[in-house]
Amino acid sequence: FKTLDNLDLAGKTVLLRVDFNVPMAGGKVTDLTRIERAAPTIRDLAAAGAKVLLLTHFGRPKGTPNPEMSLRPLVPVIAAVLGVEIGFAEDCVGPVAQKAAQELAPGGVALMENLRFHAGEEANDPAFADALAALGDLYVNDAFSAAHRAHASTEGLARRLPSAAGRLMQEELEHLDQALAQPKRPLAAVVGGAKISTKLDLLGNLVARVNMLIIGGGMANTFLNALGVDVGRSLCEHEMADTAKQIIAKAKEAGCDVVLPTDAVVAGSLAAGVAYTTVSVKTVPANQMILDLGPATAEHLARRLGDCATLVWNGPLGCFEVPPFDAATNTVAQAAAALTKEGKLLSVAGGGDTVSALAHAGVLNDFSYVSTAGGAFLEWLEGKTLPGVKALEDQA
Ligand code: 3PG
Repeated sequence: FKTLDNLDLAGKTVLLRVDFNVPMAGGKVTDLTRIERAAPTIRDLAAAGAKVLLLTHFGRPKGTPNPEMSLRPLVPVIAAVLGVEIGFAEDCVGPVAQKAAQELAPGGVALMENLRFHAGEEANDPAFADALAALGDLYVNDAFSAAHRAHASTEGLARRLPSAAGRLMQEELEHLDQALAQPKRPLAAVVGGAKISTKLDLLGNLVARVNMLIIGGGMANTFLNALGVDVGRSLCEHEMADTAKQIIAKAKEAGCDVVLPTDAVVAGSLAAGVAYTTVSVKTVPANQMILDLGPATAEHLARRLGDCATLVWNGPLGCFEVPPFDAATNTVAQAAAALTKEGKLLSVAGGGDTVSALAHAGVLNDFSYVSTAGGAFLEWLEGKTLPGVKALEDQA
């Protein structure tokens, strides 16, 4: 696909799709990452003399204006990150939006109100996409984290205006390709999280592509149970036992080594300060639940990563939000970070929980690449085509 470098930008009005679906609490943005990571694209466009209209969704207002999901509170936040004043339009299409676009000077930036206040956005309604396209000359998509949605602003616009990928979109795709499409091997994947039922496509795709699949979190219990282990009161999808066995069989066929825990940290409930012990997975007491991988497993995983050249990570290994059940996630994340710093491992991570877990382990900045995406990262790991990316490729 094309990039900013292929566009003639001076004096042009650029519709820039960003993903400023940022976490907010009490009207305040609690994590600036997505805004900071899109800033280089905004700055490059402005520096080239383009007029920049920022388009984003926020939350899920389901096609109707909702003051609680207005983007107005983001204006000073974006302005502070960019270090320039920015405008705001109370609608992303129609006369209000047109006026905001016309008033912009070359190099100016304006934020348009939440795209999802219009039902046509998520429906990818041609009339709504036309109305957006009417605002500008060029379309730039920098919202990798929304590229799994075939919406008017992520898909429809690319089919209507000369289009290019923004710097962040480019960066995400380059790093993710390096990790999974053309990896240096051995390639390992860490997959954690609560349930295998939500990650079946992911597991199915990964076993066919990676050399080692490390399974942690609640989903490890489902695999252990499928192999005849009694996991006591642990979170476990008993009805998924056959599916888990099929995944193990598929892995074996593909030469993928599935690594499951051998010891576990167990307690009577998930609570801060609760009494806990470490046991072999073969001797989990009937009234206890597994809340983390055990220290022997964590050490083993850390050592095994030492033999790998590439790592993709999605999902925490234990209940990391409640220490001490963060220990295995911390140990393995810190080992991956150390190997990365030594230049021995290319490590790529993504997903909301994963980013929190790595931040909690203090290694977020030590991974080779951390994606801004949650759902889109997962779909990409699943091997799915992302409509937002496909539309850019089709245009090129
Ligand atoms: C995200 O935060 O992962 C993206 O912005 C997509 O949001 P959505 O799941 O509401 O489409």
